[in-house]
Parts: sequence; C-alpha cells; structure tokens
Amino acid sequence: GAPAHALSPATGLDWTPIAPSTEDAVVIPEGFEQDVVMRWGDKLFSSAPDFDPANQTAAAQEGQFGYNCDFLGFFDVDAETEIMMVNHEYTNPNIMFPGYEPGNPTREQVEVEWAAHGLSVVAVKKTVGTGELTPIVDHELNRRFTATSDFEMTGPAAGHDLLKTSADPTGTKVKGTLNNCAGGLTLWGTWLTSEENFNQYFANAAAIDDPAAVEAYARYGLPEGETDRRWENFDDRFDLSKEPNEANRFGWMVEVNPWDPTSTPKKRTAMGRFKHEAGNMNVGPDGRVAVYMGDDERFDYVYKFVSDAPMEQANAKDGGNPNADLLDHGTLYVARFTGDSPEAEIDGTGAVPSDGKFGGTGEWIKLVHGDESFVPDMTAAEVLIHTRQAADKMGATKMDRPEDIEPSPMTGHVFMAMTNNTKRTAADADEANPRGFVTEDDASTNKHGHVIELIEDGDDATAETFTWEILLLAGDPNDPGSYYGGFDKSQVSPISCPDNLTFDEYGNLWISTDGNKLDAHDGLYAVPLEGEERGRVMQFLSVPIAAETCGPWVTPERVNVAVQHPGEDDEADFDTHVSTWPDGDYPRPSIVTVWRTAAEPTPTPSQEPT
Ligand code: FEO
Ligand code: CA
Ligand code: CA
Ligand code: CA
Repeated sequence: GAPAHALSPATGLDWTPIAPSTEDAVVIPEGFEQDVVMRWGDKLFSSAPDFDPANQTAAAQEGQFGYNCDFLGFFDVDAETEIMMVNHEYTNPNIMFPGYEPGNPTREQVEVEWAAHGLSVVAVKKTVGTGELTPIVDHELNRRFTATSDFEMTGPAAGHDLLKTSADPTGTKVKGTLNNCAGGLTLWGTWLTSEENFNQYFANAAAIDDPAAVEAYARYGLPEGETDRRWENFDDRFDLSKEPNEANRFGWMVEVNPWDPTSTPKKRTAMGRFKHEAGNMNVGPDGRVAVYMGDDERFDYVYKFVSDAPMEQANAKDGGNPNADLLDHGTLYVARFTGDSPEAEIDGTGAVPSDGKFGGTGEWIKLVHGDESFVPDMTAAEVLIHTRQAADKMGATKMDRPEDIEPSPMTGHVFMAMTNNTKRTAADADEANPRGFVTEDDASTNKHGHVIELIEDGDDATAETFTWEILLLAGDPNDPGSYYGGFDKSQVSPISCPDNLTFDEYGNLWISTDGNKLDAHDGLYAVPLEGEERGRVMQFLSVPIAAETCGPWVTPERVNVAVQHPGEDDEADFDTHVSTWPDGDYPRPSIVTVWRTAAEPTPTPSQEPT
C-alpha cells in the first residue's frame, strides 16, 4: 500500500494539537505512534560492550551513542537505508556517573565525558509503511567523533599564530569538536555542525600573560579561573594558563563528509568564530551559496557567509566532492536590522505598532572577504578568530539569542528563532527585538522569545540588503505582548522559547523549544506561513521532564526529534532521577520517531465543515 503519510496532502497539518503537557513522556497527537530510535549508550559497533551506566568506561563510550543529542539530520542511502547525523552537545556528569563529585571528577569520568561529546553518524534501516528506524550496528558509514578525534582547520585563518599550540605548531590540526548544538545539511550531501558554548571547557582565561587575549576570551565568556567541569585537571590543553590558544580552535562551523568514512572533518575558518548555533544554506541565482548562522548569546548577532564560487551540482554521496573547498572562500557578513515604525511606539511591551507589524529593512554588513578585512584595526584573520569584536565595531544589531536560522526551501524566506532575552530593558528594545522590561518582574521581558522572517532583496540569497518582519512574539496568547502572525490567538497552541527550526514538504515551519516559560514542558510546534492560517501555531509533541526538544526533522513518512537532557537537574545524582524516560529507570537522551497510524486523519476543529 501507500506509505504512511505523517501529513495531509491538503494543509499538511490535519491532526489535533496536543495540550501543553507536564508528563514524563513524549506526548503525541491521536492517530500517531512513536518509538525510540537510539539512546545514550546504544552501540554503533558490535565491538562496544552493552551499555552499563554504573560501570561506564571511555573505551565503551567511544563505540556507543553519545550524550545530549541535539542536531539531527538524515541522508538517503537507498530505499531502505538512511544515515542519521547527530550532535552530542554536552554532558550532565552529575546524573551520568555514580558517585560523581561536582568540582572533583575522576579521570575516568572525564574521559567518558570526552567520548560522550562530539558526533554520531549512524546508518538506520527503515521499515516500509511506518516511521520506524532501526540502527544498523557496524554499518560501513557509522562513525563516532569525540573530544579527542582528529579535525582539520581550513580557510583563511588556518595556520595563524592565534591557532598554534605546543601540540600543534601548524595551527591546523585540532583534537575534537565540542558543544555541537544545531547545524544543517549542505546542498551537496555533507553536514554542517556548529560549535556553540565552547567557553565552558577552558579554564584560567584571566591568567594569560597577554591583555588582548584576556579581553578577547572575556568577550566569549570564558571562565577567568577554574571550570565547573575541571577537565583542566586531566589535560593541560583545557588550561589556558598553559595552552593559551587552545580555545581559539573551538567555536567554528565544522563540515563533515559522512559518505567517506576516512574523511577528516574541517573547521571552516572563513565562516567566523562565535557560539555557532546552526548553519543553513540557500543558493543564489548565480550558484553562489549563502549560509545563515546565529550566535546564541543575549545581545549577539546574526551572520551570513556567501561563497566566492558557485556550487557545482554534485552530491558527495556519488564519490568525489567538487564542493569540498567551497566554504573556505567567501565573504562573512553580519546583520543590521532597521525598523520602520515610529520609535516611540517600540516601548518594550510588545504592543504592535500603528503600521500593523514589527518590520523594516536591513543590511548585511561586510566583515571580511578572504584576506581582506573591512573592520578598522583588525586583520582578516583577527576578524575571523575574534568575530564578535569585529561585529561590535561595525554596529550590527544586538539580538535576543539568535538560534536556528533557516531558509524555507519553498520561498527562500529566512526564519530566525530568537530564543529569549531576560536582560533586555524597555529602553534597549528595538523593532527587531521589541520586548524588554521596565521593572525586573515585568511581563513584557522577552523571556518567551520570538521568530523573525527575513526576505532577501530580489529573493537573492547573496543580496546585501533585505526586508524583515516578526512572525511570532511567543508567550501566553492572552498576554497583549504576544503576537501570533496576526492569527486569532484564541485558536493557537501557546509557545515559548523557539529554538530549532525545520520545514515540512508543504512549507509549514516547525519549531522546537528550549526552556518553555509557560509552566509546561518543551515541545515541537508547526505553524503555517501562508494565507489565512499564517501564525496558527499547533503543538505536535511534548518532551519529558527537564528535557529540551532538539533537531526536528519532518518528512512525509515521519517526524523525528532529539530529546535532549531529560532529567537535567543540578541537585540530582545518578540514583535520584527527576525523569525516568525512556526506560522507566535513569534518564537517557534519545532520538524519537513518530508516524501516523490512523487510517483517517482526525480533522481539527477549524477544518470541520461549518
Ligand atoms: Fe545549544 Fe543555542 O542551543
Ligand atoms: Ca541545548
Ligand atoms: Ca539549542
Ligand atoms: Ca534546523
């Protein structure tokens, strides 16, 4: 028979939204079924032992699925097989290890953490007619990358003095990738994975005997003294007083070719260094590609990289990769947003201005192109390595935590999740970040975040100017400071803290959340972008206690999410679980698949004949 269809051919969204949930479960709409695809500790290789968390070793973890799954992407291998790409952003050692003492980890625990970070490439077998996915242990394309795997620095800053260490005098060979958050797939069959909060791993930034280095690390939030994780106790490269440049080798966009199991992933210096959140690509009319990127920090920036050369129509899957160096040569831009409503009407409350919407124009400010810097008093390599300081100098717009930024494959319009910003004051509000507080407990503080739509001028992804408008000001629909695309707020699912984005085949936007401030768990939501239903947010699923919803992936057959950090709780330990998902025991970050089982879709109320 026909394959199960997760979505209707009509609107794509013919299911009844779930209610906000606080269950310790993945809650899905009626008519759907779910399964766990892969959990922390599941094997990629038969040489790895069965998962035994009370006796976990680094050697075991290196052959097993890592911790805190985040980005999730798939490539087709054949009709029955896909490869699944997963980021393992970070670890929660207090709940991973029996007897973990915060501030005093053992070497074995830290080495397990190194092996539980990084990336997984796992082939999965599909069950035709359902959304079930089964990992294929020992598949030739399976790989684990960890905090100690080999990575190569490429592009204009590779080999710069600021990237050299005692272990790597070339400034081009790095051990590991860290805090890989979201990411994206390229148009040539490779994977972009983003190094985000790398600052937390490196100790003693204030102890470096170089005021410029101290200042630069301070701008990236590196700890002045010891780290919470104490990795510096076991490897000097995590101690900046001994190895002052090591942290400059993290905070990059990384490209992985999953089709060549011998390939070394590349850290692409041409794309700048910041707390990279994601990288999603579109192609301009002349074939040059644009990659949209966010720097997830309160008051940081939205960036775009445009390649010098047009991409070649080719897929790395087919062997060879003519686009292998495309992301080493190009221009890095940062965004400035200009509002077009009377300034006095942007008062921090989120009240829609008199012209009917938050919106305006904007420009991509050139920072650097190859060896040419456009930033006063900074060389090109300095702009690429200290990108935040470069953007500060150029007057970019300070945003409310830019997370996933992704162009619609249907329209090319770029959607940008701003997760939240509890530090913006009403006086600092601007039209692109229009909520801020007058007093600390003010409901108009942007604790719920927002989503912006950016339209490149001429619908050209490589353009240097754009228009924009706010699609959603998340939060309680009853709050006058929330905005749901102009849709009737009495008919929407409440959403808070938009984080990762994806699109379905109908062009609907799907949004996962991180940190729901509406007294319910995080979840996954769909929202139509066109026509009368624009802004009608519908909740599709909800995740277990203390979990974040990551990596949404939506196809006609299934919906996938990464359930990240279930049971995360600083007060908990290995024996005390605030979540027991997914096995009824200790919590395990896991990938979930959801598919439609009902023969007839359940119509939503607004689609019933009236
Ligand atoms: Fe790892 Fe910005 O979320
Ligand atoms: Ca996260
Ligand atoms: Ca995130
Ligand atoms: Ca995404």
